[in-house]
Amino acid sequence: MEVIICPNAERVGQIGAAKVARIASAIGPGVVLGVATGSSPLAAYAALADMARSGELDLSEASAFALDEYIGLPLGHPESYREVIRRTVTEPLGLDPSRVHCPNGFADDLQAAGPAYEDLIRAAGGVDVQILGVGSNGHVGFNEPTSSLSSRTRVKTLADRTRRDNQRFFASLDEVPHHCLTQGLGTIMDAHNVVLMASGAAKAKAIAAIVEGPITAVWPGSVLQLHQHATVVLDEDAAACLAMTDYYKTTYAHLPDWQRLDV
Ligand code: GLP
Repeated sequence: MEVIICPNAERVGQIGAAKVARIASAIGPGVVLGVATGSSPLAAYAALADMARSGELDLSEASAFALDEYIGLPLGHPESYREVIRRTVTEPLGLDPSRVHCPNGFADDLQAAGPAYEDLIRAAGGVDVQILGVGSNGHVGFNEPTSSLSSRTRVKTLADRTRRDNQRFFASLDEVPHHCLTQGLGTIMDAHNVVLMASGAAKAKAIAAIVEGPITAVWPGSVLQLHQHATVVLDEDAAACLAMTDYYKTTYAHLPDWQRLDV
């Protein structure tokens, strides 16, 4: 796991975007992006949008797969992840909407919607670079603590902590759905590259558990320790509970030229 510690959240977005852009450029215009909702990747999306607009990054044939979707919201609800991804990713990055996919949390047959989404990702050749945030309880996607480390896209029940964390997007806690359709940890692990971004003190405990703790379903993001190409980009607050901070900073300061991110 590559750990990069940045002075602030803005820099997390720039470095995260540079990492994603480097991978996307190597793949070419048909890159398959994995995209997350939440506040953590917003600065990176803004930076990627700038690169796409300036022509520095060609996303003209790119496709994208979102991690998850609420179940129980009406179609078109502004906080449904389908709408959030449209506002924060599809439009700013200029992606072709017909190539941007979300798990179908509105399906009549929710049991079938998970495997159908897996088929869609497989047909696209898999996700080249998965952008991730992390919940304060260590969830990635909506894989709550005790999720199977090899799980696939399926219906999950949201943890109380996640519902309370996400209440800020709704008028009241009662309006936050209890269920979701989320890519599994096994699905996320199949992405060829993973870039996780986190900032703020509320993520510090989860980040320490994920990066330096044992691999355990109690901290779902810890499964990323088994990923061959996982990068974690943090601000100082999110990195505050890590033990090996000096090593991560020294490693980044001495990266060989070919690994350096020019931002
Ligand atoms: C939601 C999403 C996750 C996201 C998490 C953290 O629960 N399902 O994909 O990582 O929120 O959100 P934020 O980045 O706003 O802290």
